[in-house]
Amino acid sequence: MEIKKVVIPVAGKGTRFLPATKELPKEMIPIINKPMIQYVVEEAINSGVEEVIFVTSRGKEAIEDYFSRNKTLEKFLEEKQKFPELEMCKKIGEMVTYRTVIQNEQLGLGHAILCAEDLIGSENFGVILGDDLILSREPVLKQLMEVSKINNDKSVIGVMEIDPSDTKKYGVISGSTLANDPRTLKLDAMVEKPEPLKAPSNLATPGRYIFTPRIFKFLKEIKRGVGGEYQLTDAINLLCQEEKFFAHKFKGDRFDTGNIQGYLEATIEFALREENTRETMISIIKEKVSHYNLSI
Ligand code: UTP
Repeated sequence: MEIKKVVIPVAGKGTRFLPATKELPKEMIPIINKPMIQYVVEEAINSGVEEVIFVTSRGKEAIEDYFSRNKTLEKFLEEKQKFPELEMCKKIGEMVTYRTVIQNEQLGLGHAILCAEDLIGSENFGVILGDDLILSREPVLKQLMEVSKINNDKSVIGVMEIDPSDTKKYGVISGSTLANDPRTLKLDAMVEKPEPLKAPSNLATPGRYIFTPRIFKFLKEIKRGVGGEYQLTDAINLLCQEEKFFAHKFKGDRFDTGNIQGYLEATIEFALREENTRETMISIIKEKVSHYNLSI
């Protein structure tokens, strides 16, 4: 089964990024000159997705505007003969077919995904969280799609190995590795932010998922959990008891851009990876280290 739709929940308040997020959606904060949400949408498109569903909230209209054409700006750029910039802006306005659904109250990630039910219908679908940017040769969502395809179109969650002392920051899974695929496990359970001693493994779940539409049944059944929110983890735990569910160790480097340390790391890494910013970044770092008499 081809996955044609992806849900990108963007309704959160982004409190870790205040004061920027007081008026600006967290997803519009750029890494270099591209808003974080664009990297995520590109991952979806490069995975073959045809429709992006933003679960959004009041005050986040800038995200929809960003993926629409801005004729006033285009006219201005044309008059100024800034043709490369004009092309760039046109392309962004046409890169994706998107739909939006409003989550009126921020009742948690599980609730946000349930808001997209009517737009998904009875197909398998992907979910990408914009807080986690992943640089990889093959888009992570596509890697998960392939695992789903060869496993009877079942649900798949992306996992990565973490330092065991960091389990408190993540959802952590337990499962058994498949005999024919050492990177894939049959998912047994998922625990939200366990203490290291209670963690079932060191496999954590940054936000990449493929779900069968059966997940909606469980999203409706779950009660408010940790933090008074409807937790996606609780629905995943129910779904994996009813039908096979897989966890896949994806290939890629992940950055948690939802917090300031991860954001800084991504900014430096992205600048070092791009040819036109690499030398500038290196010389800035060298100059600052010498200016402040630091040793690195
Ligand atoms: P986070 O837990 O990171 O929350 O949500 P947040 O509001 O974005 O950020 P902080 O923690 O306050 O800084 C994970 C993802 O789920 C979405 C968020 O937009 C983010 O992409 N989300 C969360 C919703 O869409 N709705 C919710 O009710 C909660």
